[in-house]
Amino acid sequence: MGLGAVCPGTFDPVTNGHLDIISRAAGSFDAVVVAVLENPSKEPLFSTEERVAMLKEAVSDLANVEVDSFSGLLVDYAARREVRIVVKGLRAVTDFDVELQMAQMNRTMSGLETFFVATSPQWSYLSSSLIKEVVRFGGDVSGLVPAFVRERLEDRLAAIGD
Ligand code: PNS
Repeated sequence: MGLGAVCPGTFDPVTNGHLDIISRAAGSFDAVVVAVLENPSKEPLFSTEERVAMLKEAVSDLANVEVDSFSGLLVDYAARREVRIVVKGLRAVTDFDVELQMAQMNRTMSGLETFFVATSPQWSYLSSSLIKEVVRFGGDVSGLVPAFVRERLEDRLAAIGD
């Protein structure tokens, strides 16, 4: 079977920063599961199915990457999938506090390990929230997300008249 890893997140929507981490995880592990958290409490702009579909399209060239969704605890999902390692990107020290807490909590609960990957500097300022804000106010996010993601974002934000 080889060594597997899970890349969890909300992915609302996927950005080139996420894809950098996913492709590097795919280069270091035999199999990678990208796990989309359903997370209705965050009121995502895109449904779980839409977020999964965009990710599938974005990683279609990576043969050892699968896209799935989950709800509940990440440790329970990882146990079901028999994966023992989480891969997360760190953009800056501002990510560190919350990521360290989650990594320590996950390891305490079930022994699930977290490996941190330093985001490529070219994507270090990217976040899905910022991307949505820029598109909402008419800004251009070409080159920061895949072209089809930009189109879906523009359509969705135009449709809800926000
Ligand atoms: O893309 P995000 O929103 O930064 O991803 C956060 C995510 C999905 C990795 C995190 O919220 C998570 O693992 N949620 C699942 C619920 C859970 O296990 N919570 C306890 C974490 S210690």
